[in-house]
Amino acid sequence: MSAAPSSASPRKLFVTTALPYANGAFHIGHIMEYIQADIWVRFMRMRGHEVHFVCADDAHGAPIMIAAEKAGVTPQEFVAQIAAGRKQYLDGFHIGFDNWHSTDGEENHQLSQDIYRRLRDQAKLITTRTIEQFYDPLKNMFLPDRYIKGECPKCGAKDQYGDSCEVCSAVYAPTELKNPYSTLTGAAPVMKSSEHYFFQLSDPKCGQFLRDWALDPSRLQPEVANKAREWLESDSGLGDWDISRDAPYFGIEIPDAPGKYFYVWLDAPIGYLASLKNYFNKTGRDFDAFMADPSTEQYHFIGKDITYFHTLFWPAMLHFAGLKVPNNVFVHGFITVSGEKMSKSRGTGISPLRYLDIGMNPEWLRYYIAAKLNARVEDVDFNPEDFIARVNSDLVGKYINIASRAAGFIAKKFDGKLAMDWATEPDAFLSALRAAGTDVAELYEAREYGKALRVVMEQADAVNAYVDANKPWELAKDPANNPRLQEVCSRLLEAFRILSIYLKPVLPALATQVEQLLNLTPMSWTDVNIAMPHQHAVNPYAHLMTRVEPAMLDKLFEPAAEAPVPSATQIEPLADEIKIDDFAKVDLRIAKIVDCEVVEGSDKLLRLTLDVGEGRMRNVFSGIKSAYQPEDLKGKLTVLVANLAPRKMKFGVSEGMVLAASAADEKAHPGLYVLEPWPGAEPGMRIR
Ligand code: MSP
Ligand code: ZN
Repeated sequence: MSAAPSSASPRKLFVTTALPYANGAFHIGHIMEYIQADIWVRFMRMRGHEVHFVCADDAHGAPIMIAAEKAGVTPQEFVAQIAAGRKQYLDGFHIGFDNWHSTDGEENHQLSQDIYRRLRDQAKLITTRTIEQFYDPLKNMFLPDRYIKGECPKCGAKDQYGDSCEVCSAVYAPTELKNPYSTLTGAAPVMKSSEHYFFQLSDPKCGQFLRDWALDPSRLQPEVANKAREWLESDSGLGDWDISRDAPYFGIEIPDAPGKYFYVWLDAPIGYLASLKNYFNKTGRDFDAFMADPSTEQYHFIGKDITYFHTLFWPAMLHFAGLKVPNNVFVHGFITVSGEKMSKSRGTGISPLRYLDIGMNPEWLRYYIAAKLNARVEDVDFNPEDFIARVNSDLVGKYINIASRAAGFIAKKFDGKLAMDWATEPDAFLSALRAAGTDVAELYEAREYGKALRVVMEQADAVNAYVDANKPWELAKDPANNPRLQEVCSRLLEAFRILSIYLKPVLPALATQVEQLLNLTPMSWTDVNIAMPHQHAVNPYAHLMTRVEPAMLDKLFEPAAEAPVPSATQIEPLADEIKIDDFAKVDLRIAKIVDCEVVEGSDKLLRLTLDVGEGRMRNVFSGIKSAYQPEDLKGKLTVLVANLAPRKMKFGVSEGMVLAASAADEKAHPGLYVLEPWPGAEPGMRIR
């Protein structure tokens, strides 16, 4: 399925996974993608190819800018904190990127501006147009669609996003919403015009190139090609792509366009090149020569949700900038858990760190995910019972057990020495096992990991049948059988060695233990055909892998333990030091929540009626609907910022602010906690 040149000589490969947004920790979907790509990379290396495997944080864009602002740090500090958390996941699951970089790195600034200049000056595919857009007058910024809500123009449903209605499924432009409001401030947005930069994908030469590239039958997966065909052959054709955003924006400046930044999706894929360049510079390799070499192959592993960017925009950008285009884009489906879509807010996902923390073996997950993966864009389900069955019956039961049965006798009875003098004779059992390697290799390369592992497990079944037929434990009862016992066990360890080569892309750490046990140098694919020599000495058997205990999965899904304990590095940095006088400016009062109700038309706000002992009631809006029902709050005491200037909001005037605690990273640690004084406090008391 790849457009790779067919040759037996080593290939030069540049492989990436999608660059994760630097606004949160990895979730199990990221880990699944990395495992898929890592297996492929390890396999290709075992085949003797030169592979450079890189990734980076996708640092730019409005959401990260806003998240940083909320956390009270610069966007650079914010993404640096996220980046610092990456290693424990990657090491933990044996994901062997050669380099991890950031799209905010210097290389990406240069490459993005350079590619843009080529598109503008050489391809003449950049144009400008003035467009009108919503603008938040309180925040002084243009509002990305996701920060605008309002009433559906078709059915009138409230609180609908700017692109489509969740109630009637109507699709529209944000400007068509009725009574729109900014979800950042609640303010009614105003229309404001601004000049935007466009990549002219509507130019016939773009359509022509993309049809050639994307519809080449040797390239994309069939279902991906079908999607691309739909996009390319739609009546409206490809539209021009808006690649600019106005300041304030965390991104890369557009050359010769003050106050304009590249839209994050322009510089994000260029980050693939930037990470490779950064890596090549660090290791003294020549990036330009590597990328200019026509035999260099470039592959991107991505999830199905970002296919459009990778099969249209990205190849077009590269091609018209005169650069190498991807050989292929490998699209995978999403991971679900017991058939349910992952949702961090509902806590059904699997926390990768928790998986490691409770002592689950990362290679169980690698094996399980590999066993479920194929080359299609299908979702992969994590099912706890299935997980236990595959790991315990297949991985441990069929494969690991071969070594545990044979190695002990070799160590105990034969001084660790193998009898391999039979190995020069043709041997049906081992020949079949070796021959299977051809299929296994083809399946790995085609990303049909599930099928590859099925072939390996069939071979493991055959090895186990040999064990049952020869019963080493019976042979061991009579010393007269020793020569036979030594041969049977040696043959089993040779079979185990071959199976270990087949499994090495999936189980790299285990393979290292096997190399240690069998006293071998790192195994590559060609070693399949080179039997261990006669009298080869192996090491005493050390336990290779335990079974999964079902209780571990209960622990993995325990809701209480879902959120990891925040460590010192995860908390929001402290604000600048203040004097006591600064604090005194804030008048905090105990308030009684006399009444509380939901606000029609808002999914964030609750309306509180507060008694602060003033002989009148205060009306306060608070964005805590996600965490509390009105009944939870009625009658309770809380803390109010009482001298805040009244603020006019879409739903009325708010006279103060109720205090609530939340984590800096709301995604990783969702939850809002309203403050409540200890018993005895009374409405109106000041907090000092
Ligand atoms: N930043 C962009 C990608 C830019 S690439 C130049 C992005 N980031 S992401 O963090 O949202 O997603 C990163 C990758 O994880 C994507 O390939 C995405 O498809 C994948 N996944 C996100 N959720 C997933 C699952 N539930 N299951 C499997 N993969 C999933 O998109
Ligand atoms: Zn509607």
